[in-house]
Amino acid sequence: MAGYISDDTRKVTTHRLVEMKQRGEKISMLTSYDYTMAQIVDGAGIDIILVGDSASNVMAGNVTTLPITLDQMIYHGKSVVRGVKRAMVVVDMPFGSYQGNEYEGLASAIRIMKETHADALKMEGGEEIIGTVKRIISAGIPVMGHLGLMPQSINKYGTYTVRAKDETEAQKLIQDAHLLEEAGCFGIVLEKIPADLATRVASELTIPVIGIGAGGGVDGQVLVAQDMLGMNNGFRPRFLRRYADLHTVITDAVSRYVSDIKNLDFPNDKEQY
Ligand code: KIV
Repeated sequence: MAGYISDDTRKVTTHRLVEMKQRGEKISMLTSYDYTMAQIVDGAGIDIILVGDSASNVMAGNVTTLPITLDQMIYHGKSVVRGVKRAMVVVDMPFGSYQGNEYEGLASAIRIMKETHADALKMEGGEEIIGTVKRIISAGIPVMGHLGLMPQSINKYGTYTVRAKDETEAQKLIQDAHLLEEAGCFGIVLEKIPADLATRVASELTIPVIGIGAGGGVDGQVLVAQDMLGMNNGFRPRFLRRYADLHTVITDAVSRYVSDIKNLDFPNDKEQY
């Protein structure tokens, strides 16, 4: 089996991520929303597991990430943490749980940390949320920023197309990235922006920059597990590499199961008491 499994079983920390960036070791990050997937993904050697608010789409079938609630994110976060030994677990703060004011944001952050036992949180936005980011970090909670395409703002953009292609938006993104680093974020996700811009941000910052649809010049990569495993046939953006075709594998297994039941083949004599 081709693969990369580190023999370093120490827990991944914010400090170790910065060391990885410094020595040029790329950081691997993948989503998980449940215990079973988290156990597999952690065992395969991933550095960071993101309990993404993409659970809203992938787990619940919503069109956007907006409907998922704080309680639902806490449920997913708890389930993932129980399955993980080595990876850092980062939980997304859901839409509406931190945009109001610093104290609301802090209260949501504390609930997630207390109830899930996750290692860190991720929040979408730059200058607009910097006060809240600082307040949460000052409570001792590690925060990862998220810039570029921010799915919680989809109703403002109206489209999931590449962000920061024009100079004004690119300049704002660079400024926001610096603000997040200065506020004490331990890392930043850059989603769906031109590769040159992402490379520039990663080279200007000392904290790790993880990309999704942001090219290879950043410090690490993140994908949604169900997308890279080929479970969602309808979603094939250019940045997605599919490492398996689980849609076909599962469809085949389930249809053989159905057929074995119908044909009185399952269970057989050895599969009963
Ligand atoms: O929610 C999520 O899955 C994310 C990744 C796409 C970075 O934020």
